[in-house]
Amino acid sequence: MSFLAIIVAAGTGSRAGGPKQWRDLAGRPVLRWSAEALLTTGASELAVVVAPGAEARAAEAMAGLGHWSAVVGGDTRAASVQAGLNALTGRPDARVLVHDAARPLLDAATIRRVLAALEGADAALPVLPVIDSLRRGADGLMGDPVGRDGLWRAQTPQGFRLGSLRDAYARWPGDAPPTDDVEVARAAGQAVALVEGDPRLMKLTFPEDFAMAEALIPRWTRVG
Ligand code: CTP
Ligand code: MG
Repeated sequence: MSFLAIIVAAGTGSRAGGPKQWRDLAGRPVLRWSAEALLTTGASELAVVVAPGAEARAAEAMAGLGHWSAVVGGDTRAASVQAGLNALTGRPDARVLVHDAARPLLDAATIRRVLAALEGADAALPVLPVIDSLRRGADGLMGDPVGRDGLWRAQTPQGFRLGSLRDAYARWPGDAPPTDDVEVARAAGQAVALVEGDPRLMKLTFPEDFAMAEALIPRWTRVG
């Protein structure tokens, strides 16, 4: 059941007013929430990808946890993921989950759904249905209709085999960076399975998202 994991935590949090990964969320640093979920669910090796100079910050946030190491990331999320992929020492057929530090409320059930889907597909990601109508628009005016049939909201952790995700990144055309990793796998011809996501896996993006995430944490898991 063991697997490898990467948490990308090298962003600057420009929309949140500063790096999100070190901020406190209900008594624990944001990064620590998903790190604990991955380690207690069976991650045997976890690469925590951070900005240059932030290794001590990571060590503080991860105090007391084992089987992880800090890796220096890059200017884009994709560059940070690749740094994590290079740092992992597992076999090419090992399963690897790539997760955003900015999605702290990860639970074991989601991790297991993504891992289980890798039995029948090259890659997998958790998704949520699009509930609201989608509207195209510009300059304050609505444009042509957009169907939402077959559209899903993508989350992380996204699952892969270590060797095939490395290969897929090596083959990525490279003009614009991809926004996530399943996009890279798919471009390389891999079959990507959709599994059920979790609304609590919301990505902390804006300052007000922290209060919303805290409200989603059961009282009994709060520290302090
Ligand atoms: N990330 C990363 N390296 C980068 C950019 C982003 O590791 N060069 C990580 C972030 O730390 C985050 C995840 O990718 O955990 C998703 O990115 P996002 O939510 O966009 O975070 P930031 O890039 O930090 O925020 P913003 O875009 O508002 O600056
Ligand atoms: Mg960003």
